[in-house]
Amino acid sequence: MPRALITGITGQDGLYLSELLLAKGYEVFGLIRGQNNPKRELVQETVPGVTLLTGDLTDLSSLMRAMESSEPDEVYNLGAISFVAYSWENAMLTTDVTGKGVLNMLEAVRLYSHDDPAKVRFYQASSSEMFGKVQDVPQRENTLLWPRSPYGVAKVFGHYMTINYRESYGMHASSGILFNHESPRRGPEFVTRKISIAVARIALGLQDSLSLGNLDARRDWGFAGDYVDAMWRMMQQPEGDDYVVATGQTHSIREFLDLSFAHVNIDDWEKHVTQDPRFFRPAEVDLLIGDPTKAKEQLGWTPTVDFPGLVTMMMENDLRIQERPQVARS
Ligand code: GDD
Repeated sequence: MPRALITGITGQDGLYLSELLLAKGYEVFGLIRGQNNPKRELVQETVPGVTLLTGDLTDLSSLMRAMESSEPDEVYNLGAISFVAYSWENAMLTTDVTGKGVLNMLEAVRLYSHDDPAKVRFYQASSSEMFGKVQDVPQRENTLLWPRSPYGVAKVFGHYMTINYRESYGMHASSGILFNHESPRRGPEFVTRKISIAVARIALGLQDSLSLGNLDARRDWGFAGDYVDAMWRMMQQPEGDDYVVATGQTHSIREFLDLSFAHVNIDDWEKHVTQDPRFFRPAEVDLLIGDPTKAKEQLGWTPTVDFPGLVTMMMENDLRIQERPQVARS
């Protein structure tokens, strides 16, 4: 039975990846942070087969203990402070967790596998946010990185550390440069879920308006369930490598609004949406669109959910939750 350790188990990707690995017969361990973490119950209910271990990406000794007790064949480092807007307010904490946390995890893996550097396969959750002020359209594995947020800078550090550990120590370390990926499990602070929740509530007469920031930014949005499959495929390759994981399509926030409101038969959505300077960012990433050719050719990976399918999935889920909030769970 293969064994996997996942950091960031409480997040959207941690849950989907746990389900995927459990279905494949893995023994799955998840790292959970803090005393009385409020998301512990959610993880235990959603993926009861996962064994939870306590640890923190900023605490190397806790990571080494997690390695010793889980004895993993594969480590998926999904843990991070992942909300870009927050990273300007807490740049140092974001750097410690999202950047230096990767180095701590790599060190824990290296020390644990000192007798055979390729004993444990390592996946780093890199991000299309690293492309920032994009230098190529579409963005590929070798596109110059130009991050635009403290979060993006921290992710660049983690990305290059992963490459450096692969090249320095012969580790099987892979970096998945994942473009935005969404689902009914997406946190409500991210724009897609913020929209799907609000539009469901507007349709049901529970609220009247929605306040957003920049509506013209464009993102390459895919389905998170597809993207965790790409992570697993990277770990099955003979060597570690870097891969862009994206749909190859880009859409604006406005287009996401169009389809979400159309789902509830509202055409004149402008009257429900206001723009608030609070939600604009000090430096914006205007356009993301990835070229997933390498992942398709080398991993045999392909996305199964397109943009309209993603909006429909999120809208149906939030309509269900808002109709019966006391029983529905995402
Ligand atoms: N969150 C949010 N809230 N974003 C808004 C809003 C708003 O009210 N209004 C407009 N936006 C715009 C943002 O300015 C940004 O251009 C876009 O919507 C997407 O924002 P998010 O959904 O917060 O995602 P992100 O692109 O910043 O980052 C996500 O994707 C990255 C991959 O590229 C996160 O999941 C990151 O962790 C991930 O690495």
